[in-house]
Amino acid sequence: MEEEKQKEKRDYTESEKKTLAKIIEDLFIRFSSALRTAQIYEPNNLTFIRQVNLLFNLVQTILKNEGKAHFQFRANTLFFNTVRVKFDFLSYHNFKFLADIFKDKEIGTLGFEPGLSQTELTEFVTLFVDGEAAEENPYENFEAKVKEKGIKHIFLEKVHPSETVGGKEEEEFMQSAIKVFFKSITHLKEVVEREKQKKRVQLKTTRRLMQSIVNLISQNESFMVGLTNIKNYDEYTLNHSTNVCVLAVCFGRRLGFEKRELVDLGVSAFFHDIGKLAISKEILDKPGKLTDDEFKIMKTHPWHGAQKLATLKELSILPVSAINVAMEHHIWSNLEGAGYPKYWKKNYTDLFSRITKICDFFDAVTTQRPYRKKTATREEAVSWLLEKTGIEFDSLLLKVFANMIGVYPIGSLVVLDTAEWGIVTEVNPDMAYMTRPKVKIIADSIGNKIDGKIFDLTEKDPATDKFKKSIVKTLDPYEYDINVADYFITQGVQ
Ligand SMILES: [Fe+2]
Ligand SMILES: [Fe+2]
Repeated sequence: MEEEKQKEKRDYTESEKKTLAKIIEDLFIRFSSALRTAQIYEPNNLTFIRQVNLLFNLVQTILKNEGKAHFQFRANTLFFNTVRVKFDFLSYHNFKFLADIFKDKEIGTLGFEPGLSQTELTEFVTLFVDGEAAEENPYENFEAKVKEKGIKHIFLEKVHPSETVGGKEEEEFMQSAIKVFFKSITHLKEVVEREKQKKRVQLKTTRRLMQSIVNLISQNESFMVGLTNIKNYDEYTLNHSTNVCVLAVCFGRRLGFEKRELVDLGVSAFFHDIGKLAISKEILDKPGKLTDDEFKIMKTHPWHGAQKLATLKELSILPVSAINVAMEHHIWSNLEGAGYPKYWKKNYTDLFSRITKICDFFDAVTTQRPYRKKTATREEAVSWLLEKTGIEFDSLLLKVFANMIGVYPIGSLVVLDTAEWGIVTEVNPDMAYMTRPKVKIIADSIGNKIDGKIFDLTEKDPATDKFKKSIVKTLDPYEYDINVADYFITQGVQ
């Protein structure tokens, strides 16, 4: 136990962290590929043998360097050899795939141990994906089968009972929310590809996805906003467009829009940057400042976007507002100043455009980009927006948005007066309690990273009638290398 603690506290250097992350990712890919192959092929199939072989070799290398290779799920979080896994979303699907099997079989820990033979590994991989988990005592059943096969070098431990509690409905909601979120990113990628190849784009699917997003937001807005902490999962524009879309729908809901309008707003925000597809990656991802000529090209993306949308074959099911939003989302609300395109003849911009503009700015400045010197925290982004109220952004809308995001936006990293650290998971809807959101505790008062409970800061001590905990300051998650999105994603995975 002491030794475990020691390891947990071990400080990894930056390069060690990178190496470890790479090892975990490779192991994830190898393990899930072997499992997926085992689902399709018989154990004597060549493809299957090759996959197990690759996994076996990798496990051997890890065992040599690390001594063991243990995966452990603890309270919605995955650990690898006691180190919390900060998976980089590229491996999300593999992560989910493994997590589901762990959950079905009620496994808490699975470890590869020195002495493991290739035959044992082959047997285990086959068993692991073999059929449905038993309805009663799935863990005990599985463990018995492993023993029966004489597999001795794979460590198994049942999930701790306290880790399995939690509302089933809530968990299902989170899982479907995450699924829809990632599906939207993938769908936009497909739309882009099909548009390039001049094929029909599936706007019906877009609408269906937007309907799901609208439904999910009406069930749990906080969780959906939390998911917009996911950044750079795929190409920047794809992830960013999905975030802007989620934020815009939340915004529209607060403005009292009806469901159909919300779907239209979602579609419009989703496609706001579609014109960027016409801009080269060298310009889009240029680390430094753009030259005048490059900026001129960049500024053409609203035109390209509007044009692309207007010439879609499926135009009849595209809301007209989508074309407006693509065209107008960089125009300042006072119709003056540095916005673009310059030669705009209308004397107003569409309401959807003004909404998208705010969400666009908020998501953009809170995302790390090669050309941006400083990534804003979520609360900094709100104050940057407010500095431009009535000039670049519509002042009335901005009030609603600031209220929606809150003083401590969802995803903020905060320090409490108990010296604990937390991540804001839910904004308090009562204006009087704006400074008292719900926070998930992620570090205890002496700085140990923990997977703590979600605490409601409005909770008072009945004896003294004083608040039990309060926020004293916020921190920049980038500075402390904390990936806020992890906390939202892992909620729905176990
Ligand atoms: Fe844009
Ligand atoms: Fe944008």
